[in-house]
Amino acid sequence: MAEPRPVVTEGLAKTYKDFWGRGKVHALVGLDLSLERGEIFGLLGPNGSGKSTTIKLLLGLIFPTSGSARVLGSLPGTPAVNQRLGYLPEESYLHRFLTGEETVDFYGRLFGLGPAERRRRTAELLDLVGLDRRARARQLREYSKGMSRRIGLAQALVNDPELLLLDEPTSGLDPIGTREMKDLILHLKAQGKTILLSSHLLADVQDVCDRIGILDRGMLREIGRVKDLLLVRDVFQLQAKGVTPAVREAILAAARGAGAEVISESHPTTTLEDLFLRVVRAEAEGRPPPASVGRPADPDPPAPADGHG
Ligand SMILES: Nc1ncnc2c1ncn2[C@@H]1O[C@H](COP(=O)(O)OP(=O)(O)O)[C@@H](O)[C@H]1O
Ligand SMILES: [Mg+2]
Repeated sequence: MAEPRPVVTEGLAKTYKDFWGRGKVHALVGLDLSLERGEIFGLLGPNGSGKSTTIKLLLGLIFPTSGSARVLGSLPGTPAVNQRLGYLPEESYLHRFLTGEETVDFYGRLFGLGPAERRRRTAELLDLVGLDRRARARQLREYSKGMSRRIGLAQALVNDPELLLLDEPTSGLDPIGTREMKDLILHLKAQGKTILLSSHLLADVQDVCDRIGILDRGMLREIGRVKDLLLVRDVFQLQAKGVTPAVREAILAAARGAGAEVISESHPTTTLEDLFLRVVRAEAEGRPPPASVGRPADPDPPAPADGHG
C-alpha cells in the first residue's frame, strides 16, 4: 500500500468566535493543501494571515469550523500521529528554570525513552542544533532568542519525527542564526523528513523551500515551486565573465539587431544576506573582505561633495 501523503487538507477553515459564540475572525478560509513526502513546504504570509492557525489545526490543538485535515494518514491530534511528528511553536512554552540538557531529557521521558537512550539522544540533538557544553548547562531563562529557537528545535526532534511543523523557525534570529537554522532544516530534509514551516518574512526562507504557499487573510493566494513562482518568463538574462567593452557592444548590437528590447545590462548584485555572511566570515578567519562583491569592479570615484572632504 502506498504511504499516505504527510499532510492533506480539504476546504480547511477556522472561524474564531467571540465571547457570545458569534463568528468573528475568518482566520482560515477553505485551505486545500497536499504535502509531498520529503519536501520543505513554506507557508508564507503577513502577520495574522492564518499560518499559526493552520499549524494548530494540523496538530489537533484547535478544531476546524469546516473542512478536514489528514496528517500522516490519520485525523490530527491522535496519539499515533503525535508520536510521529515534531512541533516548534511560535513562542516557546518551555520551562524557564530547566537547563537545555534537562529540557531535552524531560521531553525524552514524555516519549517514554529509557535513561541511557535519553542521554545519548540529548547529547546528539544538542550537538545537532549547535548548543555547546556551556549553553546546555544554562537555564532557559538565560537563553538568547537564537538559543531558544535551537532548544525548541531539539525538543521537537526528540521522538525522531518524520513530519516537522515549524512555526516561524527563523523569527527573531540575526542573519547568521537564520542561515544556521536554514542549514539545519536542509539537514533534516536530507534525513528524509517532511517539513512544513511558516514565516512572515517572505524572503527569509525562500531559498530552503521546495514549494511555498502564500496566505493572505486566511486565503491561499498562490502555491507552487519557488523557482516557478519567481521566474520572470518574458525576460532573458545572460551572465558572462571576461566580457570586454567591444564584446559587450557586439552582444548589445546583435540583440537589438535581432529585434530584442534591451531592458538593462549591469553587473549582478548579491543579496545583503550573502554579503553580510561573506564579510563576517572573512573577518572571523582573518582574511580581507571579499573584493569581488560590494565594490565597483570599474572604480568610478564619486563626485566630491561640496564643502566636506
Ligand atoms: N484564539 C483566537 N481567538 C480569536 N482570534 C484569533 C485567535 N487566534 C488567532 N486569531 C486571529 O486569527 C487570525 C489569524 O491568526 P494566526 O493564525 O495566528 O496568523 P499568523 O500566524 O499568520 O500570524 C488573526 O486575525 C488573529 O488575530
Ligand atoms: Mg503565527
